[in-house]
Amino acid sequence: MVPEILRTKNLACDAVALIKRAADEAIFQRGEFRIGLSGGSTPRPVYEALARSQDAWEGWVFTFGDERCVPPDHPESNYRMVRETLLDHKPVPQQNILRIRGEEHPRVAAAEYEQDLRRSCRNAEIYRHDFLLLGMGEDGHTASLFPGTDALAATSWVAPNFVPRLNSWRITLTLPILNAARHVCFLVKTAGKEEMLKKVLAGDLAFPAARVRPEDGNLTWLIAD
Ligand code: 6PG
Repeated sequence: MVPEILRTKNLACDAVALIKRAADEAIFQRGEFRIGLSGGSTPRPVYEALARSQDAWEGWVFTFGDERCVPPDHPESNYRMVRETLLDHKPVPQQNILRIRGEEHPRVAAAEYEQDLRRSCRNAEIYRHDFLLLGMGEDGHTASLFPGTDALAATSWVAPNFVPRLNSWRITLTLPILNAARHVCFLVKTAGKEEMLKKVLAGDLAFPAARVRPEDGNLTWLIAD
């Protein structure tokens, strides 16, 4: 798999085009579109643009790459950000939105989320996202897989992860799940990340984002200045 590196002047527009193309293909081939959503700030305009431009949601199944250990209405909640920018007032059945319950104890939330994923994919060998959006932090983290943290070695699908740098717990999908995706798309704004982006794109495995290499899927880096 050779990563596709795309520089864009309109991240939201180009990301939505990739998402819609992947959705059309997945719905045609399998009758469903399993999309994984990233948190943080970069994806906000992507979700807002998707909400404006997509009108058919049948078969779309939403998951989250990670979540902060906060209630769903907390300002730092990734779910709240996605609900406000994308899911509010959309005809998506609740059972098709797999929310990580950040309000629970981290270990409980991670175990419950893994069960939700297993149930949703009808106990398949592994959960395969059709399209998985990820971001990259200035330290090379992705989802809530931060350099030097325990979840990097997890073999489960979901893991609780204490992040010393933030002095807080997170819940995150693990590398086996990220690398099982049919298509991973990183959304990165380069401000403050130029040097880290060079290291990650050069394959420096010291940084978690560089360890995302779908085993049987595509990898796209959508990069905006
Ligand atoms: C989160 C994200 C995280 C994010 C990066 C980049 O919960 O914060 O999952 O991995 O994608 O930190 O964040 P920005 O897009 O805000 O730079």
